[in-house]
Amino acid sequence: MPRLPSDPAAFERDVILADIERFASITTKRAWGWEYIDPWQRRLLKCEDRYIWVNASRQSGKSSTLMVKTVHGAITNPNSLSLILAKQEQADEDMRKCKDIYNAYNDYLKERYGGVLVLELIEDNKHTMEFAHRARIKALAATERSRGYSAPLRVTIDEARDVPDEAFVAINPMLIVSQGQLILGSTPGGTSGFFSTERQNPRYVRFVVPYTECPRISRDEIEIERQIYGDAYIKQEYSCEFLDEISAIFTEKALNESMDDTEEPMLGHMAHIQKMIKGEAELI
Ligand SMILES: Nc1ncnc2c1ncn2[C@@H]1O[C@H](COP(=O)(O)OP(=O)(O)O)[C@@H](O)[C@H]1O
Ligand SMILES: [Mg+2]
Repeated sequence: MPRLPSDPAAFERDVILADIERFASITTKRAWGWEYIDPWQRRLLKCEDRYIWVNASRQSGKSSTLMVKTVHGAITNPNSLSLILAKQEQADEDMRKCKDIYNAYNDYLKERYGGVLVLELIEDNKHTMEFAHRARIKALAATERSRGYSAPLRVTIDEARDVPDEAFVAINPMLIVSQGQLILGSTPGGTSGFFSTERQNPRYVRFVVPYTECPRISRDEIEIERQIYGDAYIKQEYSCEFLDEISAIFTEKALNESMDDTEEPMLGHMAHIQKMIKGEAELI
């Protein structure tokens, strides 16, 4: 981007864009009230390796951080394509996060410079944002049909444990041509599926973020969850561990509990766990 000394506003904007941590501090504070960006989040924002594998606790801030990275990448790369693949609800949620960050960035520019630097959108819908400089962000439900996008700057697969292997296989050829970046972010979900198998692949830079690295998740709350759902559940959802079959562990726990515990609250949780095993209820 040109840095014209005669245009101090554009110069200042470019200084912010050149520093993704600064961009993230400004936009996340405006959009979501963040006071601090966690150290691992800063490392992830700055990471430029081609292949990145992020295994992090639920609610640690994976999606938010990845979407800040996505929006920054799009704003600073005219004509680029940033793809987000996830299951449908997650993709929708991710697009909303991108819009929050884009709006926060524009509001900042409006406030400081009266709107002259604002980057307009020429397409804005549930799945796509296209900026005036022709960079696009697309958030799609991942299926084996998620192919055919040419030369992405970056593909981010969010909550990869919920994405079918066929969708992962379909995106590899696009990245080979573009030399684009691939980021897999997720909480573990058993030992089958590409998020698990790719952890052995030496091409990735790895981030492992258990709940203990997240200042917003209290240990007391985790202990309460452990009492209710058992140790295996906590290991998978909050401590980044790949366990064989969480449903098998739930079944074992359910059986044990049903033999000696007749208290009502536990029975309620038991019923929910049984539904989760049958696929009739979401993991909480
Ligand atoms: N550094 C941070 N400071 C304040 N809140 C944060 C920070 N990182 C994440 N959060 C908040 O934590 C919640 C979970 O974030 P999210 O990105 O959805 O997590 P994940 O994808 O890991 O489940 C959101 O409300 C988000 O705004
Ligand atoms: Mg998420």
